[in-house]
Amino acid sequence: MRTSFFDAHSLRLIQAPMAGSQNHRLAAAVFKAGGLGSIPAAMLTSEQLQNELIEFAEAIDIGKGIDIGGNTRKTSLWGELLPVNVNFFCHKAPAEQAETEAAWRLKLTPAYQAHGIDPAAVGSGPGRAPFSEESLAMLGQFKPAVVSCHFGLPKAEWVAQIKAWGIQVWSSATTVQEAQWLEQHGADAIIAQGLEAGGHRGMFLTEDLSTQIGTLALLPQIKKAVNVPVIAAGGISNAAAVRAAKMLGASAVQVGTAFLTSHEATTSALHRQALMSDAARHTALTNLFSGRPARGIVNQFMRDYGPLNPMAPAFPLATAAVAPLRAAAEAKGQSGYSPLWSGQNASDCEALPAADIAHKLLQAWA
Ligand SMILES: Cc1cc2nc3c(=O)[nH]c(=O)nc-3n(C[C@H](O)[C@H](O)[C@H](O)COP(=O)(O)O)c2cc1C
Repeated sequence: MRTSFFDAHSLRLIQAPMAGSQNHRLAAAVFKAGGLGSIPAAMLTSEQLQNELIEFAEAIDIGKGIDIGGNTRKTSLWGELLPVNVNFFCHKAPAEQAETEAAWRLKLTPAYQAHGIDPAAVGSGPGRAPFSEESLAMLGQFKPAVVSCHFGLPKAEWVAQIKAWGIQVWSSATTVQEAQWLEQHGADAIIAQGLEAGGHRGMFLTEDLSTQIGTLALLPQIKKAVNVPVIAAGGISNAAAVRAAKMLGASAVQVGTAFLTSHEATTSALHRQALMSDAARHTALTNLFSGRPARGIVNQFMRDYGPLNPMAPAFPLATAAVAPLRAAAEAKGQSGYSPLWSGQNASDCEALPAADIAHKLLQAWA
């Protein structure tokens, strides 16, 4: 039998990509501690992503081996590949929705007025870009060991090219049907994202939230339905949960929330405070911050307008309307309009070096 990528690298822990809450520092710390770190690309320009990859390579001490221009990197710890996961969103950019956006801004007028914001001055436009030709070029240049995706996969010819470079392609599945689709379309591993997970639901074949199930139920069903390795994600924040995922057949776990309060994450002080307070016991799926359902700690915006609101513009266009509210509230030290992404179990969140968190989780696998 062929040794899986996970066995070949003794890979059991993946630090979940968390756009807006981390960069290469967290990825490098987790890699050095024996896991695989992730660099989320969804909110970065190509230039920013390039800098992140260079800084990651430097942080794990192989930067000197990288020849950015000629793609002649020889020195790395995983053969020819940079030992990191680069994560992309693979949504279809929506058609312009000027009317929907205007109606949504009108709906938010009371909130704008309460914060002294002129609704007419609120901008529009996307906040996150999907995988593109430029992303592909970047991968060809840097050759990360893994590319993981949320919301499906890039188009077939791009997936084929990425795989031809020897890069693993992973993607999140929130249902058995999505897992089977991903396997059929070339995914080398499936991330089974249970309903407990913090951040965006990776759902891409359905918009029906009643199809979404918890990790304990999703993982064994996906495991039965596909032949590629399965990574468990959602609500895994301590050793016992890691052991449960292993028992249910996971090849590795992907952990997000537990790293949000690590020293190396870029999580804001307000977000950290919320994660380590009783408020974190109440999370919900909300589409208010981006247009797609994502799990966060319930706050004022979610209570007043949602948590789910059919008037919110399509992903990622809803991002623009809340941006000035968030800025105004945060300037006053309030997190009522901030996306406080969190999984359902933030009770293990501690202000610790990421390596300590990674070690605790990894010990459980042994
Ligand atoms: C703050 C935050 C941001 C996230 N951003 C991304 C992202 O950019 N890409 C992605 O594939 N998943 C993202 N996720 C989802 C994670 O990949 C993963 O499914 C989730 O963190 C696992 O559940 P847990 O938070 O309970 O550990 C994010 C999660 C959080 C908490």
